[in-house]
Amino acid sequence: MEHLTASLQTLGLNEVPQLANLATFPTYNQVDIYRAHIAELLAPITGVAAETVYPLLQWTQVLEYGDVMLPVPALRIKGKKPDALALEIKEQFPESPLVLPPVAEKTFVRFFFKPGPLAKLVLPSILKNSTKYGFNPNLGLKDPKDPSSEKKKMIVEFSSPNIAKPFHAGHLRSTIIGGFLSNLYEAAGWDVTRMNYLGDWGKQYGVLAIGFEKFGSDEALEANPIGHLYEVYVKVSAIAHDEAEQVKALKAKIVELEGKNESVVEQQAEIERIEKEGIDQQARDYFKRMADGEKDALAIWARFRDLSIVKYKQTYARLNITYDDYSGESQVKNESMETAAKVLAEKKISEESEGAVLVDLTKYQKKLGKALVKKRDGTTLYLTRDIGAAVERHQKYNFDKMIYVVASQQDLHLAQLFKILEVMGDEYAEVSKKCQHINFGMVLGMSTRKGTAKFLDDILRDVGEKMHDVMRSNEGKYVQVENPEQTADTLGISAVMVQDMSGKRINNYEFDINRMTSFEGDTGPYLQYAHARLCSIARKAELTPEQLASADWSLLTEKHAVDVIRSLAQWPDTFVNTIKTQEPVTVLTYLFKMTHMLSSSYEQLNVMKAEPEVKKARAALYECARQVLYNGMRLLGLNPVERM
Ligand code: ARG
Repeated sequence: MEHLTASLQTLGLNEVPQLANLATFPTYNQVDIYRAHIAELLAPITGVAAETVYPLLQWTQVLEYGDVMLPVPALRIKGKKPDALALEIKEQFPESPLVLPPVAEKTFVRFFFKPGPLAKLVLPSILKNSTKYGFNPNLGLKDPKDPSSEKKKMIVEFSSPNIAKPFHAGHLRSTIIGGFLSNLYEAAGWDVTRMNYLGDWGKQYGVLAIGFEKFGSDEALEANPIGHLYEVYVKVSAIAHDEAEQVKALKAKIVELEGKNESVVEQQAEIERIEKEGIDQQARDYFKRMADGEKDALAIWARFRDLSIVKYKQTYARLNITYDDYSGESQVKNESMETAAKVLAEKKISEESEGAVLVDLTKYQKKLGKALVKKRDGTTLYLTRDIGAAVERHQKYNFDKMIYVVASQQDLHLAQLFKILEVMGDEYAEVSKKCQHINFGMVLGMSTRKGTAKFLDDILRDVGEKMHDVMRSNEGKYVQVENPEQTADTLGISAVMVQDMSGKRINNYEFDINRMTSFEGDTGPYLQYAHARLCSIARKAELTPEQLASADWSLLTEKHAVDVIRSLAQWPDTFVNTIKTQEPVTVLTYLFKMTHMLSSSYEQLNVMKAEPEVKKARAALYECARQVLYNGMRLLGLNPVERM
């Protein structure tokens, strides 16, 4: 802060403008200085308190609209037409060391920052804060105005694939979006727990265990647990399916024979045999033993689970994701589900129906329907386990907020879950209030060259290979890349992730391997290229961080330079806005706009051919741009490359 005060004094301001009672962050976000300054100047003109004006000063998405703007109607001044008022504000706005005379346009007043002071405030701050620039660790505190206050706690539950089942597009999106949201809240100072809630419980794990006895191989399991378990599951499910078909055919045959008054003894015996000895019954028995906590039955399943987690960890690492907690449906304690069942029954929220237990949610909201919480055979369901899991997590982590990143196909499921918790009251209702479902649309046509994609690894491998082909097509460049395979892999992952994050979460999108791996258009490889190019400029300029920090910022006067600076100044606001939208596209849109601006500036702002002092200032500007691009890419979960 002292540093900031000193530099503002050289610009003609006595102190850092700050508004009492408001959380302003002049050291994290220089635009906050401008907002406070403008609000102070507007107060006497408008008769509206500076504290009220401050939050109305919006950021603009397009630089032509100014650096911040004031929507005049939001001032709620009675008796004057907003456009007349906008003109009045423009005319009465005093001379300022930081902002140019404002522009009135219809009901808006637009403020443009003076380029010189802006460069001096923003660029040194980027160099100084480097990987932290733009992030504000106070936002996640219990009291953002008090830096010594405690961090709020958050659980982000994401990815959550099902063991022995394909890792489908829904899991891919959950992984990408959940990873991003975890980074986002962490950068805002929250204490984030990343949680993977594996689908690892239910009769199908009995099926799997039986299948493993028949088709499993320890070697194959060790080598590729996820692939092998899936293979086993497919084989044993096929048998179960055949048996079911057989029973159906036998039943039809019986009807036919009975019509002719012939004996059906043989057919009945066969049906009985299948129902007693078939896969389905074996699986039920096996799962019953698991559910009863029988050690032998649990041992093999635990091995499947553990080995799968080892493998998942490797794949998640490629996406820069590590989990704090591998929970799962199997981990939910019977006790918490029983306690919940008791509350539901006692409060008459649930009712018995033909031996099963259900909750009629239509009382609260028609579209929530009726939800089953206990099957006739007494076993729990997906929903029951989620009820138990939610309270257990609350008891374990005492979170302030919990986010479920799950496909919109499960909108109803989560709405039912939250409603049930709400009407249960007490701690359950408290949990419900803290929960949020972050949903997303589908990925269409996600298939690899070798058929339909089954596992995340296959998808990443395929896109990496395609990326390698794209790189090879530029031979001159290709030979300069040190580790082409590794680079292709990283670029491929960026391609998949950026494509996924390019639209609003709720939209469906087409998995288009050609488009996502292209260097043209708003793609992952394009962003990586922009980063690598900035790295290359830095390498050629050969200036130390100290030299860059001593740059004379007043030499950056060209329109291209000024626009890049204005754009960089928007990064902290973009971050804050992203917390509001919870959309990765908010970050991406900003990064693409910023990098487009850069690419049109390279010719005008040549570094190597410039005079030494100008060269230094320009190199420092590009270093700032690289830093912001890097920070944005990291926030999204990408690995910025230095060469490609
Ligand atoms: N394993 C589930 C599936 O693949 C997703 C789990 C979502 N999370 C939850 N708490 N229900 O469909």
